[in-house]
Amino acid sequence: MVEHPSTGSGRRASPPRQLPVPAQLALSEDAWIDVIRRMDEVYADLVRYQLDLEEKNVALEDAQRFIDSVLSAMSDVLIVAGADGRIQQVNNALLRLLGSTREALLGRRLSELFAPGAAQLASTLPHAVHQAAILDCELELINSAGEAVPIALNCTARQEADGTLSGVVVTGRPLGELRQAYRQLHEAHEQLKTAQQQLVQSEKMASLGRLVAGVAHELNNPISFVFANMHSLQRYGERLQSYLGLLHAGAGPGELAAARRKQRVDETLADLGPLIDGSLEGAQRVSDIVQNLRRFATPQRQSAAAVDVCRVVRSALDWVCRGLRRRPRIALDVPETLEILGYEGHMQQILINLIQNAVDAMEDLAEPLLEVELATAGSEILLRVRDHGAGIAEANLVRVFDPFFTTKEVGKGTGLGLYVSYGLATEQCGGRLQARNHPQGGAEFTLWLPREVRHG
Ligand SMILES: Nc1ncnc2c1ncn2[C@@H]1O[C@H](COP(=O)(O)OP(=O)(O)O)[C@@H](O)[C@H]1O
Ligand SMILES: [Mg+2]
Repeated sequence: MVEHPSTGSGRRASPPRQLPVPAQLALSEDAWIDVIRRMDEVYADLVRYQLDLEEKNVALEDAQRFIDSVLSAMSDVLIVAGADGRIQQVNNALLRLLGSTREALLGRRLSELFAPGAAQLASTLPHAVHQAAILDCELELINSAGEAVPIALNCTARQEADGTLSGVVVTGRPLGELRQAYRQLHEAHEQLKTAQQQLVQSEKMASLGRLVAGVAHELNNPISFVFANMHSLQRYGERLQSYLGLLHAGAGPGELAAARRKQRVDETLADLGPLIDGSLEGAQRVSDIVQNLRRFATPQRQSAAAVDVCRVVRSALDWVCRGLRRRPRIALDVPETLEILGYEGHMQQILINLIQNAVDAMEDLAEPLLEVELATAGSEILLRVRDHGAGIAEANLVRVFDPFFTTKEVGKGTGLGLYVSYGLATEQCGGRLQARNHPQGGAEFTLWLPREVRHG
């Protein structure tokens, strides 16, 4: 008798003596043992295979349950068809959408799910996607009530390991939802664009308002000057006319001398030159202001040109300060001239914004001091505008360049000045713009510009 040690099950092979063995084939004891051992091994293998199979079955069932749960959780519809175009699998979302059952759909032709206009394309699906790999389209499905349901589909080919087509996977989403979401997105985008345009516009109007105030103030001086001079000239003209009238009428020397004194002819003649010079100067100033205004008003379409940055700095300071009731003290650390190749209009706009902000920040100071520094730094120039106001709150330092970020009251700040300046400095001029609080107080903005702009 031989034990079956490998199974440990306690089973035994049948005793060989019970077999009807012809005498001439009788085997030796050893041979029997050998046979029994082999049978024993085969049996052990069988048991192992059985166990393996059971484990694999469990894993397969788990996988199947997992796939089922994924399929039924999907909100998009899913259809799997074979290479022959017959439906092999669908998910619950499709059943809900069509009001149908799985049994009614499995095995049917894919094209039968689609509205007549789309059926033709649907019938070519497995092969059409095999060539194009992925196909995106909008088609209409037919629900159980016979109604068309528009749907955005994405079809992908299924392939065997050797690349032959094994079928098609179709996923999709009803277009109603998509269209609505798209429309809402579109509307929100439009509203945002309008709001943005309004704000940009109001920023423009705000700067324009300040500018116009400055210009009006600036024009007022030379014009009233010219007016006063013209009144004087009118009076002088009358006096000279009356004196010349006497002269032409042949008046005697005594009469003429008296008229000359009375009409202050000598003083009038001496005054004429300065009066005309003054009027010319006033007219020239008016013309200069108009020229400047035109340069400021059309800074967009320009090409890079040689610009004297010092002149731009002075003119920007002039523009901002001319509208102020109280001018700040200005400490200028600027060379005599510094020429670069760049965009004058952009530079002027950036500087005006920085200076305007600095002035705003010092509104409540008794002795406002504005420091402006211009220097070269390697292949760049560096422009610093520093004020002695309260500085920028630490939390706001990262936000000052954001569009619409402002701490000023409504109507005063639009929060676009620094945003626009940053865009001009970096994208248009190829430079950089940074903000920080000066260690000794106040905000400091630094603008770096290349000495030769590379694009544009
Ligand atoms: N020199 C400065 N000192 C203190 N805060 C400043 C200074 N410059 C800018 N800021 C802050 O950055 C914000 C944004 O500036 P800006 O974009 O020019 O818009 P706005 O001037 O219309 O508010 C300002 O509201 C202010 O809070
Ligand atoms: Mg501003």
